[in-house]
Amino acid sequence: MTLALRGEKLSRTFSSAAGDVHACVDIDIEVAAGELVVVRGASGAGKTTLLNLLGGLDAPTSGTVWIGDVEATALDEDALAALRRERLGFVFQSFGLIPILSAAENVELPLRIAKTPPAERDARVAEALKLVGLADHAAQRPTELSGGQQQRVGIARAIAVRPHVLIADEPTGQLDSRTAATVMDLIGDLVHSQGLAAIVSTHDPLLVQRADRVIELHDGRVTSVTSVTGRDAAGPAAATTDAPAPDAEEHDESHTPRTRAEAREQRRTDH
Ligand SMILES: Nc1ncnc2c1ncn2[C@@H]1O[C@H](COP(=O)(O)OP(=O)(O)OP(=O)(O)O)[C@@H](O)[C@H]1O
Ligand SMILES: [Mg+2]
Repeated sequence: MTLALRGEKLSRTFSSAAGDVHACVDIDIEVAAGELVVVRGASGAGKTTLLNLLGGLDAPTSGTVWIGDVEATALDEDALAALRRERLGFVFQSFGLIPILSAAENVELPLRIAKTPPAERDARVAEALKLVGLADHAAQRPTELSGGQQQRVGIARAIAVRPHVLIADEPTGQLDSRTAATVMDLIGDLVHSQGLAAIVSTHDPLLVQRADRVIELHDGRVTSVTSVTGRDAAGPAAATTDAPAPDAEEHDESHTPRTRAEAREQRRTDH
């Protein structure tokens, strides 16, 4: 198994006037190439904090992050920024597109920053827009696209740099549930067809169904890790390991992850 991203004993404490906030406490996490890991938890559970630590956007109070085989937490700021640009793609809840640029120009921007030669840039932009199903919308600006299409541009922008890891913090938070499901299907398909590693935070139980592994956070701690095995089999095949967390929330049965095939089947019959 190739590990694309790893966090070991990650803790992040924020100091505020009201006292210390332990946003992440002793978190161990691994994401392999070709694996979609979903981080789930209530508001304030520590999802964004964890993703920021793993993406090198914030430094842990203690603990270590490896991006591939590089110890990211040992790097200075410039080296970390270079590693981020080379290995990671970020997708944001608010899409983060530049309004005056077309879809293609938005996707091209990180390639310009990375000084990718123009011919290669054009090819990568076309390929990324095709992968997200927007080849025919390349010239449109974000305001001329639907929310789901805008987020697909956001995903195209993230994958155009051919990252090893996709990091997405509530990428479907602004989308209706059906659009959210298609965006999450897209992320799942990209992960499995391109061998990307992805870590995605969400509240949405529908999205959990596409995960290979679901990590549940509560008050900054991992309370359970659920691996979805045999995801192409016909029936449910989930194995949950409950971490020792006496204050873990009750699990809502309707949120239990199932196979992707089953999830798709349910959507087909729902609509
Ligand atoms: N910069 C900061 N300074 C102080 N406290 C912070 C900071 N960032 C986050 N926190 C606190 O850390 C905890 C975890 O926050 P985080 O944003 O990671 O939660 P979350 O799971 O992403 O929530 P949401 O679902 O609402 O996005 C919260 O109690 C939050 O108030
Ligand atoms: Mg958050």
